[in-house]
Parts: sequence; structure tokens; C-alpha cells
Amino acid sequence: MGKVKTAIPGLDELIEGGYVENDVILVTGGPGAGKTTFGVQYLVGGITAYNEPGVLVMTEEAPSRLIRDSWRFGWDIERLISQKKLMVIYADPFKYTKFVKAPEKGQVSVLSGTKTVADMFQQIQTDVAAIKAKRLFIDSITSLKVSTEKSAVRQVVSEFIKNLEYLDCTTLLTSEIYAKTFNVEEYLASGVIKLHVFRVGGSRVRAIEILKMRGVKHDETLHPYDIQEKGIVVHPNEVVMLDDVSIAGSK
Ligand SMILES: Nc1ncnc2c1ncn2[C@@H]1O[C@H](COP(=O)(O)OP(=O)(O)O)[C@@H](O)[C@H]1O
Ligand SMILES: [Mg+2]
Repeated sequence: MGKVKTAIPGLDELIEGGYVENDVILVTGGPGAGKTTFGVQYLVGGITAYNEPGVLVMTEEAPSRLIRDSWRFGWDIERLISQKKLMVIYADPFKYTKFVKAPEKGQVSVLSGTKTVADMFQQIQTDVAAIKAKRLFIDSITSLKVSTEKSAVRQVVSEFIKNLEYLDCTTLLTSEIYAKTFNVEEYLASGVIKLHVFRVGGSRVRAIEILKMRGVKHDETLHPYDIQEKGIVVHPNEVVMLDDVSIAGSK
């Protein structure tokens, strides 16, 4: 069973060395938890440390914003794109037809005139093949659900995840937590990683939890993580005790 490094310092050792190759892993948490950073770090680290090309699908933020925010961590997204190590697809969640201008060099695939999830998947397939991507990050699946009729959400999400499993890629998906109930994608993904943000007194405590990881003997405790100058760092030897934090403040 092949393993794929997470590119998050401290995380591989909680999941027996990395993600299971070709799995679909869900990263969930509230706004500001660090989901986007987690996934972009997976792609950038994959390229720079392991020479594994990646595809990024964005439905929430414009690529120009991603490029700007990535600089803060020292990640040069445009360079990776021009080296053909990274491809970026931007799809507006409400229409899949309205798009921001691509950056200068015009290297962001823009989904114009497409309206269905199937169209989006086709673009993903094309881009994955074009650069022989091994890593795929979709930020987020929440938007996919927004653009789908309520009664069809389960079917659309389930079909989308099934299709992703056939790709020769290890995929991260993000989804935002709105309610305490489970979302359909949490059942369907092979792995679920939750990024908690607790409030303790006046400060924030961030904790990562591996909710599930099929076929892996994974850690089950809450470990602190923080967002540092070079990205997210997990502290596998430290534990967050729930008694210490206000659960009511959990996102
Ligand atoms: N350089 C940095 N140092 C520390 N924290 C940062 C830095 N850049 C961003 N952050 C934190 O990361 C959060 C945004 O993370 P992001 O990945 O966009 O979260 P999400 O996608 O879950 O909404 C911000 O709210 C901020 O707290
Ligand atoms: Mg985000």
C-alpha cells in the first residue's frame, strides 16, 4: 500500500506515514481553521519536496487572492504554474460560468460555459492528465452542494467522490462545518481530518483530529496545530485535553 506524504510537519506520524495512495480525504473545520492552507501546503510541498505535480480546484476564492495569500508562507504559486507542476481551475460555485480574469500569463484553466459537476470533473481529468498530477486538492465541496438542488446533493456528492477515486491521484477535499450533524461527504470519503478551533479565555486553541482513515491504525487524540510562517505545523507529542477548553466555543 503506497503512502503519500502530507507535507504537514508532524502529521505523517499520526497516520502511519501519510495518506493511502489514491484515497479521497476530507478536511473539515470552521472558517479560518486553516483548511485552504492545509490543502495548498499539500500541493506545494508535494511539488517542492517530492516532485509530485498537483491540481488545485478553487470554488471559493479567486486565484489572485490565493496567489497573494500564498506569498505569506513563501509559496510561489505562479512559478509552480509556469513550471507545469501545478494547474489551477477556478469555478464559480453558483453559475460555473462567471469567472475572474486569469493571472497575467493566462495559465489558470477557467471553466466557462460549463454548468454541471460532470463538466467540472472532466476539466479535472484533463488537467490531471496534462501534467501527470499525483495530488489533487478541491477547495471546497461545500460550494458544489450550494450549486446543486437539495434533493440531489447526496447523489451528486457521492458520484463526484466515486469519480475522484478512479483518478490516479490522492485527493484532499474541504468542507465547512455548519451543523453538528454529519455531512454526506464524511461518510463517503476514505479519511476525515477535522481542524478544531476552541476558545479558551481570550485565546484560540487549534487542535487536529483524525476522525477516520480507512485501513490505517491512526491516532485518536487531539493534537495542537498552529499556523506558522511556513505553514501549518502539527505537534504530535502534545495533546489537547478537552477539560481545558471550552467545548461551547468549538467550531
Ligand atoms: N502567516 C500567518 N501566520 C499565522 N496565522 C496565519 C497566517 N496566515 C494566515 N493565518 C491564519 O490562517 C487563517 C486562514 O486560514 P485558511 O486556510 O484560509 O482557513 P479556512 O480555509 O479554513 O477558512 C487565518 O484566519 C489566520 O488566522
Ligand atoms: Mg478556505
